[in-house]
Amino acid sequence: MSKVLSLVSQQLDALLTGETNVVSNLSNAAALIFQNYEDINWAGFYIYNSNSDTLDLGPFQGKVACMHIQPGSGVVGTAFSENESLVVPNVHDFAGHIACDADSNSELVVPVYKNDRIYGIIDIDSPRLNRFGEIEKNEVEELSEILSKYI
Ligand code: SME
Repeated sequence: MSKVLSLVSQQLDALLTGETNVVSNLSNAAALIFQNYEDINWAGFYIYNSNSDTLDLGPFQGKVACMHIQPGSGVVGTAFSENESLVVPNVHDFAGHIACDADSNSELVVPVYKNDRIYGIIDIDSPRLNRFGEIEKNEVEELSEILSKYI
């Protein structure tokens, strides 16, 4: 039996059905996340560039952000290297956190896969401490799974 998708996942799937332009798809996914979650100041993607071995800024909503992140660096680079989602209740307690937007106090990062290989990271920042928990992590992992079909 197939599992019941969250409303935002259903919206993402409906929005991207039949669409093949990766930039357009990631752009609308970032916008959908940004408008669906309260108390967030940044939502977007870092995409792995194998030529430079960096995570490069992808489509996002929010303030201007760091263009390149090294695998293993900061929250995004750690999630990439460890190949796992991270919920960071207080970014100031995360060793090596990269402060792109000084408003950010908590963060959620989730890997995105393409053909079963890690493609990049969904990054969501909040000005509120402890904004993200298991519910948001599971929901964004579901969004990531859907997105895999459209990148
Ligand atoms: N804070 C992130 C960098 C990206 S910005 O939040 C948009 C990090 O430590 O990896």
